[in-house]
Amino acid sequence: MIIENLKLIGEKTLTEVAEASTLATLDEVRVRVLGKKGALSEILKGLGSASPAERPVIGAAANEWKKKLETALDERKVSLEQIVLDAKIRDERSDVSLPSRMPHRGSLHPITQTTRKLVKIFSRIGFDLNTGPEIESEYLNFDAVNIPADHPARDMQDTFFAGPGVVLRTHTTPVQIRTMKSEKWPVRILSPGAVYRNDSDATHSPMFHQIEGLWIDRGVTMSDLKGTLSFFARELFGSETKIRLRPSYFPFVEPGAEVDVSCFLCRLKISPTCKVCRGSGWIEILGAGMVHPRLFEAVGYGDAYLREGLTGFAFGIGIERVAMLLHEIPDLRLMYDGDVRFLSQF
Ligand code: PHE
Repeated sequence: MIIENLKLIGEKTLTEVAEASTLATLDEVRVRVLGKKGALSEILKGLGSASPAERPVIGAAANEWKKKLETALDERKVSLEQIVLDAKIRDERSDVSLPSRMPHRGSLHPITQTTRKLVKIFSRIGFDLNTGPEIESEYLNFDAVNIPADHPARDMQDTFFAGPGVVLRTHTTPVQIRTMKSEKWPVRILSPGAVYRNDSDATHSPMFHQIEGLWIDRGVTMSDLKGTLSFFARELFGSETKIRLRPSYFPFVEPGAEVDVSCFLCRLKISPTCKVCRGSGWIEILGAGMVHPRLFEAVGYGDAYLREGLTGFAFGIGIERVAMLLHEIPDLRLMYDGDVRFLSQF
């Protein structure tokens, strides 16, 4: 009877061991069968009631089952541990070739990029950087640059007044006066910065940016102006770029000109559908001219102007306009919306 029981328990346990799918179940089986109060121990406790002749037989059989089960448990344990390890290796593996999540990188605003590009070009031919305030006196913004009180440019419609006699500068031209007042000639400066006009549509913004250039020395001529701007245009738009000067009027220069560059997109093979020059072959990019003698008078250079043959040229470039041309930006307002989908393209 006991032998039969042993066999039953032993075989059932072997099956359970084989079927145990986790280390916990396996341990549970071991305790239930081989533990102190386990099934096998219970059987051996009943050994007392067996006859002396049966006892060694039962004892031997019980030991044999015990060994057999222990071996089975050990083997199963080893293989279950291997399975657990394999799963761990598989699931916790890190793929070192997987690209990591990159932090968002900022980029310079197209206006900043364009400003830096322009400054770099002119710095290579000796222009120093200078700046002036955005809140400017009406005198320096207008009177000193030969825009008299009754000039239409001073109209409330265009100019933001910040107080009596104080304006948000409408151009960077007052920096010409500031420079000449604080420095002795010769001067050769470039001055980028924000300017303000009460105007707003797809090509005008109430705040925009200009770069003022000024070169004053003995005997500076219109051909120096053309040579300088021609160098600038080639550096900016490519070595085949040509420029042309069209007579124009600005109160602070005489003579004055609007300057066009040959279209860098259709390269004078003029296409009527060109989206940059619209078929004209030329793109207007700046205003320029020879510094008006009245400006020399306003800054006290008047004597030198006559005595030393002092002359100079000046020019003003719209930075947004250049940025829009370079990057084919269709609407000026995109540059002020702060939309990262736009900004991240630069
Ligand atoms: N100040 C002019 C403007 O705002 C540009 C300019 C500067 C023209 C210097 C001639 C010389 O349009």
